[in-house]
Amino acid sequence: MKISVIGAGNVGASTAHYLGMKGFAKEVVLVDIVEGVPQGKALDVWESQPVNLQSTFVHGTNGYDETADSDIIVMTAGVPRKPGMSRDDLLAVNTKIVKECAAAYSAKSPNAIVIVVSNPLDIMTYVTLKVTGFPTHKIMGMAGILDTARYRSFIGMELGVSVEDIAALVLGGHGDTMVPLPRLTTVGGVPLTEMMAQDKIDAIVQRTRGGGGEIVKLLGYSAYYAPAAGVVQMCEAIAQDKNRILPCACWLTGEYGTEGIFLGVPAMLGKNGVEKVLEVQLNDEEKAMMANTVEHVRKVQAEGEALM
Ligand code: NAI
Ligand code: 2OP
Repeated sequence: MKISVIGAGNVGASTAHYLGMKGFAKEVVLVDIVEGVPQGKALDVWESQPVNLQSTFVHGTNGYDETADSDIIVMTAGVPRKPGMSRDDLLAVNTKIVKECAAAYSAKSPNAIVIVVSNPLDIMTYVTLKVTGFPTHKIMGMAGILDTARYRSFIGMELGVSVEDIAALVLGGHGDTMVPLPRLTTVGGVPLTEMMAQDKIDAIVQRTRGGGGEIVKLLGYSAYYAPAAGVVQMCEAIAQDKNRILPCACWLTGEYGTEGIFLGVPAMLGKNGVEKVLEVQLNDEEKAMMANTVEHVRKVQAEGEALM
């Protein structure tokens, strides 16, 4: 298993670090345009392996030759948002970067599975599909795991229970229109709606929608530990052919009454990438929220397409 991580900034370097600690890949290649940075960060991770007792070889480069024949590409290159910016404000600058990188890595690794992280996520995943021409089951975006993890964390804090026992799902686009589903959230098998007052649930839903912005406001730049953890969970599901059910941005062909966009939905991830998209029966209120997020993603996708 060879994994190339494009972009050696906060998310990319954290992903390489976490992959090194997990040890399921044989090789991790970190790529960036800034000279010395991917080499230096990768060497630092590699030098931690004797302590981690893992043998995944991690190395860095400014080119794509070393990425040849990767099994998985993790695309994190791009500009993150600053306080006051929305993810959609990154559309023009990141479309250019994602196009350029996708052309380069797909030429070297024509059979790879691609996990996109760059924002605006759903649209950058679409740009990746257009540039690489890879089969749709081999292209996906990471955001649903992050949004769901934030939601689970907030519930755990509020109830004082382990986050391990909270099962939940956040659907939709990676942005303010995302769709957390309290009706289907359980705490050790008990419905959340029986454990928490509606006003508390509503506050957690709102905090989840603004979860990325909350970190940007605190830090001055965007989150990376939890995003990297989400990426590594997807890589592991694919590398070990686990058939895990994880929320990911997947290409829709009629599921949820939608086609022609990438959207956050529960997917089965295995050795072929997205093995299957799972459909959840939604009530009228949830359907309305899904329609809203679909409309938003479609609008930004059209703007992205015009920039390509
Ligand atoms: P960062 O600024 O720390 O790192 C980005 C890296 O990309 C930099 O090292 C930069 O030199 C590199 N880069 C820029 N153009 C490049 C090119 N043409 N080729 C190779 N490398 C290039 O940013 P960070 O925090 O790592 O975020 C990266 C992207 O991921 C941003 O667009 C951010 O909004 C997005 N993001 C998405 C999340 C999600 O849930 N989908 C979560 C967190 C971040
Ligand atoms: C986040 O949600 C920036 O999209 C990134 O933290």
